[in-house]
Order: sequence, then structure tokens, then C-alpha cells
Amino acid sequence: MAKKNESAFDRLLKKLTKATPIEQESSVKLDHNFDGIEELNNPLPPWWTAGFVITVIISVIYIAFYFMNYYDPAKIGKWQEQELQNELAKAQKQVEAYKKAHNIVDENTVTVLTDKKSLEEGKEIYLKNCASCHVADGGGLVGPNLTDNAWIYGCDIKDVFKIITNGTSKGMPQWKALGATNIQKVASYVLSLQGSKPAKPKAPEGQPCNKS
Ligand code: HEC
Repeated sequence: MAKKNESAFDRLLKKLTKATPIEQESSVKLDHNFDGIEELNNPLPPWWTAGFVITVIISVIYIAFYFMNYYDPAKIGKWQEQELQNELAKAQKQVEAYKKAHNIVDENTVTVLTDKKSLEEGKEIYLKNCASCHVADGGGLVGPNLTDNAWIYGCDIKDVFKIITNGTSKGMPQWKALGATNIQKVASYVLSLQGSKPAKPKAPEGQPCNKS
């Protein structure tokens, strides 16, 4: 029963706690009495009950969202693992789009360049960085002969690009620092040496190229 001079705040408190007013406490007093410590049988505060009900509802939604979607992980709630995979796949696509837009090649997309300018630039790079081991005319010295049809690591532009980029453990340095575009040029130049006649050709190493 609302009293006349009760403030709005008091009324709110009452609503939120539903506690029995202090004057009527004797009506909810339990039989327990431990050295004067008594217990009241007040109802649970409604705000607390509401919180509890909300957590129960959220737990049902949570279970449905995260645990019952194994038939289609792409559709609703995703595990962190799945989210990470999706993010990585997205980033990979962006990297590929960037490479495409800026004409940056990698070992999967590289193609042989045949235009004169690129081959000349490739030759320049070759004379500067590679001739010490492979000789200016490609005949081979420390490194294998690059003019013959024999290849240790394959004759495809992708193979040659990969070897120049990463090097090998048997004396071929890696040339990542040249950048993909320059590696594409020097790899194209190396392939253009096929069939040329070096002054002192080193004996063939590896397998004959099985590409026409
Ligand atoms: C320090 C010496 C050295 C330098 C400099 C060098 N190479 Fe090599 N290269 C080698 C050696 C040694 C091998 C053989 C590696 C092996 O058998 O694993 C090799 C292998 C290769 C191959 C693979 C040949 C095959 O038969 O599969 C290619 C292509 C190649 N080099 C290109 C280049 C290019 C292009 C450059 C310059 C950017 C270069 N190399 C610079 C030493 C060198």
C-alpha cells in the first residue's frame, strides 16, 4: 500500500526489491534464530530475477548460435578459428588483387617476358649479379650452365623464378631483394639464353627440359 508522502525514489526502490516494509517484517520472519541473528523470508529482488532470466535466454541463443551450426559454419556464429581462417582468406584475396593491380608477379602467376626492353633490363641485372658464378654468356662456372637444355630445378619460368627468388642450399644465393618484377626480367633473360653458344660451356647438369 503506497503511503502518501513516499518519494518517487522510495517507490522505485520498493518496486525493484519487493522487500517487505520494515514495519511488517515480523510477518516474514522465519523460525531461525541464531544468537539473535534472524532470517527474513523476503522474495528475491525482481531486478535480480530479471537478470537471471535474461542470462538463461542469452544462453539458449548462444548455444544455438555457436554449437548448432556445424552443418554450415559459413552461415551463423563462427568459432575464432573459423573467423581467423575467413580473415586470412579475405586478406589473401586482397594481396592477390593488389599484386594484379600493380603488376606484381609471384611464383604462381609469373609469365615469360619477351619484349626487348624487359630482356635488356634482365640482361643488365644478370651481368651485375649472376655473371660471377654463371659467366656473362651463361656458360656456367660455379653455377650451372644456363644455356643448355639441362635443368636441375626445372625449366618452366615458374621454376626458374622460384630458384632465383629463394636460392638453394647448394650455393645459389637467394635474390628476394631484387624484387619480383626484376626477378621476372632476369628469369626471362636466363630462359632467352637457351640454345645460345657460350665460349666455355659447362657440362650439362640435371634433367633435359621436357617442355617444348
Ligand atoms: C655465388 C654464386 C652464384 C650467383 C651469384 C648466382 N648463382 Fe645461380 N646458381 C649457383 C649455383 C651453385 C647453382 C646450383 C645450385 C644447386 O645445385 O642447388 C645455381 C643455380 C641456378 C639456377 C638453377 C639452374 C638449374 O639447372 O635448375 C638458376 C636458374 C640460376 N642459378 C640463376 C641465377 C641468377 C638469375 C642469378 C643472378 C640473379 C644467379 N643465379 C646468381 C650459383 C650462383
